[in-house]
Amino acid sequence: MLLPAAGSGERLGKGPKAFLRLGGKTLLERALEAFAWADEIRVALPPGHTLQDEVNVTYRSGGASRQESVYLLLQEARGELVLVHDVARPFVVPEAVERLLEAAQKTGAATLAATLADTLVQNWRGRYGGVLPREDYQLVQTPQGFRRELLLAAHRQALASGVSATDDAQIVMRLGHAVALVPGDRRMFKITYPEDLEIAEGLAKSWKS
Ligand code: C5P
Repeated sequence: MLLPAAGSGERLGKGPKAFLRLGGKTLLERALEAFAWADEIRVALPPGHTLQDEVNVTYRSGGASRQESVYLLLQEARGELVLVHDVARPFVVPEAVERLLEAAQKTGAATLAATLADTLVQNWRGRYGGVLPREDYQLVQTPQGFRRELLLAAHRQALASGVSATDDAQIVMRLGHAVALVPGDRRMFKITYPEDLEIAEGLAKSWKS
């Protein structure tokens, strides 16, 4: 289990998201609780931050990009299958993770993805542009799950060809391996902008864990 948590949280403006408090717990604590069942959790921390390793949790300093952070963690990972989860998604729905795990085990590469509720349109310099059929599009979430060797090969190829990607499924697909789309959950959204935090604070009040 790889937990890229090294982002600076620039767009949110409240310091690194890993240490952001939501309903009395940091986003990092929430992620560690959600994946406490994992044999090993490898966390990439923002540069300058260190934490003491625990039984199944190891910390290291992250890289300059998400991709770099994941690659650093991946090189030290063991096991046949790896899951990658963004710490910025604090609401982890166990049923969705189970669906993802099952698909990743079966196919070797899978990601959670959610449907779009709104009309999807191109921005033509501030004007309403071409409407895209929203049923053809998905919002990619995490966790994503891959055979470890496959993800390693994808990262190596991305590095060698100078490709930078915002998630791991993209580079696995570039390698020529299909990635299964598994129904995600809209509550597993990523906290990015200040208003996301307001929504998250509301949801945290009724969240089980
Ligand atoms: O910036 P963004 O929200 O897309 O980041 C997605 C995830 O990648 C976050 O969990 C963030 O902490 C992580 N990240 C990282 N190393 C970086 C940049 C982002 O681990 N250098």
